[in-house]
Amino acid sequence: MSAVLEGDKRSIAELIADQKPGYSLDQRFYTDPDLYELEIERIINRNWILAGHISQLPEPGDFKVLNVARESAIIVRGKSGDLQGFANVCRHRGSLVCLASAGHTDKFVCPYHGWMYDIDGNLFAARNMPDDFDMAAHSLNPVSVDVIHGLIFVCFTDAPPSLEGAKRDLAEPMAMFDFENLKVAAQKSYEIPANWKLSIENYQECYHCATAHPEYARMHTLMLDGEKRERVQGNMKAKMEACGVKDIYIDHIDTAARPGEIGYGYSRTALFDKYKTGSKDGSPVH
Ligand code: FES
Ligand SMILES: [Fe+2]
Repeated sequence: MSAVLEGDKRSIAELIADQKPGYSLDQRFYTDPDLYELEIERIINRNWILAGHISQLPEPGDFKVLNVARESAIIVRGKSGDLQGFANVCRHRGSLVCLASAGHTDKFVCPYHGWMYDIDGNLFAARNMPDDFDMAAHSLNPVSVDVIHGLIFVCFTDAPPSLEGAKRDLAEPMAMFDFENLKVAAQKSYEIPANWKLSIENYQECYHCATAHPEYARMHTLMLDGEKRERVQGNMKAKMEACGVKDIYIDHIDTAARPGEIGYGYSRTALFDKYKTGSKDGSPVH
């Protein structure tokens, strides 16, 4: 631990109260194990996590496993065709039940002592147990699963926030891109040796894009001054309105979370290629 951190005796509540809006968080937010524990409890486990797309699990018995922090969930299309979520924890001695990351099966067999669960999470075989052993009382524990226009979300708390507002408000913009019928063409995983907030924060700001990503920035209105940016965005907007898209679905939606619901947002930015447009100063000519 650095000298700075060793000398910092503030409680977590004091530390949070000391943060200045609009400025980087204190170093401890990225290094303090107690803060990380609190984040897992208050943020990661209480919110919906994107787990995949329905096209990845088309048939009963198709499954995938989602591992987040110390939790592991099996998402499986059950016998009735509904998506279901289960804690990937055996009801016998707590072993992981499913070690594969995805696949198709007609049962999950715990690798430790061989208890068997069907694709609806019901225990149906537990060898050498006494006659009065109640298998029905030892089903896999359920985990909340919900779907927004084809995107599968999982939440590890018993009382997840509602997704109904997001489903309702995002119906039209997501329908424009036919999210329900998308297919996953490729997937890559990256291990990032850093606190999770660093990658989220990096994604949330594009202040760095113009300098750190020159090829991307070449096509993005963020390289333009305010007036030119307005013009390019205006062109995009006019084209979309001509296609019948409502004004509110073009610019930006950014809701504060309503009580009991999640908050969400999206924005849309015109792309262009200044070299293809042929203008000398890089301003778009269309
Ligand atoms: S821990 Fe799964 S069968 Fe024993
Ligand atoms: Fe970046």
